[in-house]
Amino acid sequence: MKDHSYITTPIYYATARPHLGSLYSTVIADVFARWQRLQGKSVFFMTGTDEHGQKIATAAIDAGKSPQEFVDQFIPLYNEVWNMYEISYTTFARTTEKKHILGAQKLIAILQERGDIYKDVYSGWYCTPCETFVNEDTKVAPLCPSCARETVMVQEETYFFRLSAYQEKLLAFYKNNPDFITPSERFNEVIKFVESGLKDFSISRTTVSWGVAFPNDTKHTVYVWAEALCSYLTAVGYGNDVQQEQFKQFWPPTLQVLGKDIIRFHAVYWPAFLMAAELSIPKKLLVHGWIRVGHEKMSKSKGNAVDPIPLAQTYGSDEVRYFLMRYLAVNQDGEFSYQHLHEVITADLANDLGNLLNRVLLLAEKYNVTSVDSVSVWHDTIILLRGEALDMIADYRRLMDGCSFHLAVARLWQFIKRINAFFHEMEPWKLAKQDTALFLQVISATCHSLRIVGILASVIMPTKMAQLLATIGITVPAMDAVTALEDDIWHQHFIFNSQKTGMVLFKKWEPFMIEEAAQKEESIIPQNYIEFDDFIKVDLTVGTIVQAEAVAKSDKLLKLQVDFGPLGLRQILSGIAKHFKPEDLIGRKTVFVTNLKPRMMMGMESRGMLLTAENPEKGLSLVMINESIENGIRLK
Ligand code: MSP
Repeated sequence: MKDHSYITTPIYYATARPHLGSLYSTVIADVFARWQRLQGKSVFFMTGTDEHGQKIATAAIDAGKSPQEFVDQFIPLYNEVWNMYEISYTTFARTTEKKHILGAQKLIAILQERGDIYKDVYSGWYCTPCETFVNEDTKVAPLCPSCARETVMVQEETYFFRLSAYQEKLLAFYKNNPDFITPSERFNEVIKFVESGLKDFSISRTTVSWGVAFPNDTKHTVYVWAEALCSYLTAVGYGNDVQQEQFKQFWPPTLQVLGKDIIRFHAVYWPAFLMAAELSIPKKLLVHGWIRVGHEKMSKSKGNAVDPIPLAQTYGSDEVRYFLMRYLAVNQDGEFSYQHLHEVITADLANDLGNLLNRVLLLAEKYNVTSVDSVSVWHDTIILLRGEALDMIADYRRLMDGCSFHLAVARLWQFIKRINAFFHEMEPWKLAKQDTALFLQVISATCHSLRIVGILASVIMPTKMAQLLATIGITVPAMDAVTALEDDIWHQHFIFNSQKTGMVLFKKWEPFMIEEAAQKEESIIPQNYIEFDDFIKVDLTVGTIVQAEAVAKSDKLLKLQVDFGPLGLRQILSGIAKHFKPEDLIGRKTVFVTNLKPRMMMGMESRGMLLTAENPEKGLSLVMINESIENGIRLK
């Protein structure tokens, strides 16, 4: 088996601070990286940021910064969060780094030389926030299938990558590599998509200057997605003369972690690029679901993003890591809630594990046991427990290798319950007075079991498990520990660290604390319910702004004439002058409340209200509605 392992996270758009969703991809990759190390592999673990493209350029203009200044401000925040959560990355790759730019240009130049790139005209719908082309042949702008925002028509000269030529090769590759994508449902979706036919893929833009210059044609920049995928190569040394040895050792990736929203780029375009460049294809893509908050995908634009910094400060980063890895099934969407987090910390961590450790430590202290030696002939019950430990280690290994992390952790906790039951059954507090030899065996067997738990769970909770192991005189072995555990015949000497007795490894969440936290959660998902009958009273109507002008003596108001189709034309006054220029509003189709009581403003009547959404950093925006919806239609 290759003893080098390369693991990647997606590179995150440097447009905002990381949220719990970005942390999730990263923790999964970190757990796998730690797991590989624990099995004796030399690991190169890459994470980083995606810093080019129109989305970033526009956000920088909105923020009044240069694109470079704009992206730079987020890097310390990524570092802070990743360090706080002990992400054990080898490199933090940024796409504005020179080595990345040169490497990306090299790859494109190779594809050009091999005849896989040609110049033509692209015309079609484009979603700027997602930086993706939307393959729909409609006359009116379709909404982006990924983010539901409006697309824009682009028509420009572009370089195409001959993706269509790779359809059969990709299908053959999928067939020969049935483990390429996990979970298999996602793999099947990809195969269906490729079978339905592949169009050539536009990989350059003439209208975006914030990007990597296209080799031999500086009028073009490399399309941001094509460039971003190259970061997986450049981060580990591709195109960099001094890192050739490293690149050879680590390429191709053992595991690439990504969210389901970006699967097509990774499972179709990416292997096709690599085939074209005659580079090996990653061994496995792990596609995870979304974290939702109250049924919605957590995202910055939805305003429901959970900030990982206060979360770690309140609950502890290891506790959050445990929650993410155990209670979000990696192959599905999962929900985050504070309530659930408390339950989990209290039940699984404080009760099941923390209590068990404390009971052993207190008992050892009470009967002056400062250390326990290995035992040559074990009691039958203990031999049984040892067998179960070995079974569990084998299951854990299989589940972790297969990236079924939530099942692996659940299996480990099943064993913890078993240790608790054993401890309870053996009643060592009675044995201490009746049968010292057996008492010591029970203490020793419990320590052995805790050692196994501490080592295996250290990939999930590195700090807490190091603390747990320290109480029984063990340090977390860096490498090859799993094999050692399997070979282990329970000959271990444990030394009790008397200063650690009474240590609270995990804090319990008492009902009053939970109540406080529930209030916090309510501030994320509004709970002030209204009846449907109340909602239906509000007329939300689609209309197009046909005239817009400033109102004399008011720096806030704009006077709009809105076409509501069969409902006629209406005058609506809106306090948005600081956010929109009148000329930018003319022709915009959006949503209005049309049954508000008419109101006089600055001596003029307003017969309705324009709906807007406010983003604290970017200001107001209108509700986007598909152009095909006719004026006068009521929203329900
Ligand atoms: N820059 C691209 C990736 C390029 S990789 C060559 C991008 N960036 S992103 O910042 O939008 O998303 C990065 C990752 O975060 C994706 O895997 C995405 O699925 C993940 N998540 C973002 N929000 C998420 C949730 N709410 N839940 C889980 N993961 C989510 O796409």
